[in-house]
Amino acid sequence: MEEELIGIKNAALSFVLEAEDLKSLEETKLQFLGKSGKLTLALKEVTKLPAEKRPAFGVLANEVKQTIEEAIEDKIKSLSAVKKTTLLEKIDVTNPGVKPPLGHLHLVTQAIEEIQSIFEKIGFVRVRYPEVEWDWYAFEALNFPPNHPARDDWETFFVDEKPHPKYGPVLLTPQTSSGQIREMTTNKPPIKMLNIAKCYRRQSDISHVPMFHQFEGLAVNTDLSISNLKGVLDYFVKAYFGKERQSRIRPYHFEFTEPSFEVDVSCGACNGKGCKLCKEGWLEMGGAGMVHPNVLKNCEIDPSVYNGFAFGWGVERVLMMKDGIKLDDIRTIYSDRMEFLEQF
Ligand code: DAH
Repeated sequence: MEEELIGIKNAALSFVLEAEDLKSLEETKLQFLGKSGKLTLALKEVTKLPAEKRPAFGVLANEVKQTIEEAIEDKIKSLSAVKKTTLLEKIDVTNPGVKPPLGHLHLVTQAIEEIQSIFEKIGFVRVRYPEVEWDWYAFEALNFPPNHPARDDWETFFVDEKPHPKYGPVLLTPQTSSGQIREMTTNKPPIKMLNIAKCYRRQSDISHVPMFHQFEGLAVNTDLSISNLKGVLDYFVKAYFGKERQSRIRPYHFEFTEPSFEVDVSCGACNGKGCKLCKEGWLEMGGAGMVHPNVLKNCEIDPSVYNGFAFGWGVERVLMMKDGIKLDDIRTIYSDRMEFLEQF
């Protein structure tokens, strides 16, 4: 009986050794360990043995079973390792790879970079100032009297913080003009700065978003005039929108400039003649003006020696005007819709 068991073991092991794939291993397993497998049947013979021989037979039978099982397991492992290497060997490294999808900068970031590089060419230096600001920098020093209704136009977000004894309540910058005060209180003229930053206002509808971007230019020197301002506006308009485009200034009112203007750009669709898009040939772009003497004084710059000009426009606005992007809802710019974003 014992020899029979040893014979079964040897036979099984030689099958395992010769097996070349998982299928033949499966068959070997069934042939020896299955319900009517050779070892299973041999074990049933135990009843034919005298009682005192049964335990030793049982121990041997178990050892044989275990040995066969382990041999099968090991062979499965080595077969799958071989399979992996042959797979590897078959990879043709000269095949062109699969290109991962490449992203790109957001269209607003692209516009900011372009605007920055246009102004850098004529000596404006990009600056960055706080987005969370005190009332003094955002309004008061810009010549807005306290509680003046003009402040309502800026629909400010206030931050739930203790007001500063000197600078007043804490807020989110509603306009990049606060950068003018930061710049003039930290630097002496001559100044030529470009502040491009996020602005926040309590507004959200198809043509407004609560967070948007502005770019603000400020030049302060001893002898600046409206012609200098107009020259800079013309330069920007031609560099950003195209050579054939023109700028125009119209009288307006801002607290922090005197005189103040609104700046228009000739319409690209009709070349200033007037069309459905622009009506009269011009598209409104943003504000500008000569820095108000009170603003200079608030920054301890003597208005009898220095003067300056400033301008501030919306990044999203000029971007949409340039590319002729007509959006039914401006909020699309800040959505995560890939169909929209992938176009830029
Ligand atoms: N800060 C103004 C706004 O948010 C825009 C502006 C107007 C900026 C006139 C200026 C300026 O620098 O001179 O609407």
